[in-house]
Amino acid sequence: MTIRRATLEDAEVIARIMAGIAAERVHSAVTTAWTAAEQRTYIERLNAREAIHVAVESEIIGLQPLEKGAFESMAHVAQIGTFLTPAARGRGIGRQLFEHTRSFAVANHYAKMFIQVRASNLHAQGFYKSLGFIECGRLRKHVCIDGVFDDELLMELPLQ
Ligand SMILES: CC(C)(COP(=O)(O)OP(=O)(O)OC[C@H]1O[C@@H](n2cnc3c(N)ncnc32)[C@H](O)[C@@H]1OP(=O)(O)O)[C@@H](O)C(=O)NCCC(=O)NCCS
Repeated sequence: MTIRRATLEDAEVIARIMAGIAAERVHSAVTTAWTAAEQRTYIERLNAREAIHVAVESEIIGLQPLEKGAFESMAHVAQIGTFLTPAARGRGIGRQLFEHTRSFAVANHYAKMFIQVRASNLHAQGFYKSLGFIECGRLRKHVCIDGVFDDELLMELPLQ
């Protein structure tokens, strides 16, 4: 398994993985994945302090996007997410992706990392806690999928 930055050529596979995550419906707030063209545009628009790291075996089996906070006042905040194919889960790949993402965040002078995780996604919360993230807030009934509400937990990891 290798880890590298995603390129425009990866858009189709990433879109397929995200469609799988959206179809599972239990992990993420994402219920409709981007098309390959939309994913390509997203990759194209990433700035120098943003990246998607991908884990690759014979093809991409997981990804971890890092986005800069939406406003200039949040330029020190790196928001991330982690999405692996079902077969890739539970093998330490999430942690390896995170080592690359964290190095990228430190090199780009972010002060903290931040994630939003569905309250029902206990596995992801355990994963992020094992990486050092701490819970710092809760958005009540923030997600509604198929008529069922879910809270979202806010978790952060100081880098400096
Ligand atoms: C959540 C997810 C990213 C975790 O990645 P992973 O590769 O399966 O997790 P890893 O095997 O790398 O585990 C990394 C660490 O987290 C820990 N961990 C994983 N699940 C855990 C749990 N339920 N409780 C406690 N710790 C857990 C592991 O013990 C491991 O710690 P260690 O290295 O000290 O042993 C992955 O399973 C996934 O993509 N799930 C579906 C999509 C999703 O839920 N994404 C999160 C959206 S915010």
